[in-house]
Amino acid sequence: MQHLLFAERAVADVPGITAADKAREVGSCGVIGSGTMGGGIAMAFANADIPVVLLDVDQAALDRGLAVIRRNYDASVKRGRMTPADVDKRMALIRGSTSYEDFAAVDLAIEAAFEDMDLKQRIFTELDRVMKPGAILSTNTSTLDINLIAAITGRPQDVIGLHFLSPANVMRLLEIVRTDTTGRDVIATAFALAKKLNKVGVLSKVCFGFIGNRMMEPYAREAERLVLEGATPAQVDAALEGFGMAMGILAVFDMAGVDVGVKVRRANPERQPRDDATFYRASQVLFDHGWLGQKSGRGYYRYEAGSRERLQHDEALRLLRSEGSRLGVARDQPIGSDEIVERCIYSMINEGARILEEGVALRPGDIDVVYTSGYGFPRRRGGPMFYADEIGLDTVLAGLAKYAAQGNAADWEPAGLLRTLAQSGSTFTAWAEGRHQK
Ligand SMILES: NC(=O)c1ccc[n+]([C@@H]2O[C@H](COP(=O)([O-])OP(=O)(O)OC[C@H]3O[C@@H](n4cnc5c(N)ncnc54)[C@H](O)[C@@H]3O)[C@@H](O)[C@H]2O)c1
Repeated sequence: MQHLLFAERAVADVPGITAADKAREVGSCGVIGSGTMGGGIAMAFANADIPVVLLDVDQAALDRGLAVIRRNYDASVKRGRMTPADVDKRMALIRGSTSYEDFAAVDLAIEAAFEDMDLKQRIFTELDRVMKPGAILSTNTSTLDINLIAAITGRPQDVIGLHFLSPANVMRLLEIVRTDTTGRDVIATAFALAKKLNKVGVLSKVCFGFIGNRMMEPYAREAERLVLEGATPAQVDAALEGFGMAMGILAVFDMAGVDVGVKVRRANPERQPRDDATFYRASQVLFDHGWLGQKSGRGYYRYEAGSRERLQHDEALRLLRSEGSRLGVARDQPIGSDEIVERCIYSMINEGARILEEGVALRPGDIDVVYTSGYGFPRRRGGPMFYADEIGLDTVLAGLAKYAAQGNAADWEPAGLLRTLAQSGSTFTAWAEGRHQK
């Protein structure tokens, strides 16, 4: 916990950025797309008393988006968290629009339309045309290369990624994604904005998934493999929740929609390993049966109408088992909680080590802040990188070797940094301190 207090204080300390890099004023904001993310982002700004122009393709889409915002606020009133007057004040700060001309005066634009490069480049061309000089152009993309979005504009220094998590008005984490050309004062502005929105900003470089989702990929890959090997979703989630994760990852998939990940993988076929048929196969099987999670009443679990209680989904269990047998990975012996936790958490830590050696995250503490403030990692364990230091990097390295011997060896290849530190008896913390002193 103490580690996290220091880590959260250190996140905004970015080498090369000084007091001379003054944050720009953000007194108004424009949001493109009034869906899940855009609506939540607009609420986050209204909650911070910053006026928002919310744009969508047509009045019907806009009306839908505004109605969802109103419903979410009304729910807060019902729960006693807000008064009707608070809601009126916030709704008055959000102005709907279908014209980019309304963005001429805003200080910051946040694009939250569909995840499609062509579309985003078209939107940024429009923003570049209408926005005033010195305004900041940002995107909430989860997977796209923001360098390519910045390059389409005549002002790449003003372009940055602002990666909010869902629901954007609630989640504390804001990943601030710098491109190769983002201006230092734009980064400083993003950190100041995070504070204003009552969020914690963490800097990431551009890469697939940035810090948070990139480390989720191997973590969830193992969870999905484990169900093909014979663990039940309930066992996998119970083991992860026993470790302290806020929610097991398979329950998370059911909540977010099993289709979300399937679509991301479909859009990025180069990420599918050619020689591994188990890679995210479980979600694909559910998807192929139309079992998309809570919204369709069935996914990894079964749900009664109107309830979020996870019930055993026998049909899915049978199907996943037979798929495991077909792929030759089904096991005879029960799979223990220790193996579940080690496989998921060690592979996450290993990716974290790669993120550090590539300079995607500035410090191990930054990764810990991402994971404890945005991904439900238990605060009492300090975050994945701190936890790795606590149990010893040699333990993690030995774990990677143990699971490599069970199959899919390439997935267990240790990051160079992890191997070096483990072999010299060092820690991520000591490595970061050493670099800081240089
Ligand atoms: N849903 C998540 O959990 C999540 C989390 C982080 C980032 N993201 C990213 O945020 C973005 C939005 O995701 P979402 O889940 O809110 O999608 P969504 O489908 O809920 O909403 C997208 C909205 O954009 C609008 N839109 C589409 N084309 C447009 C255009 N040309 N101009 C203006 N508006 C347009 C749509 O009408 C819709 O209202 C995506 O890039 C996604 O990858 C999503």
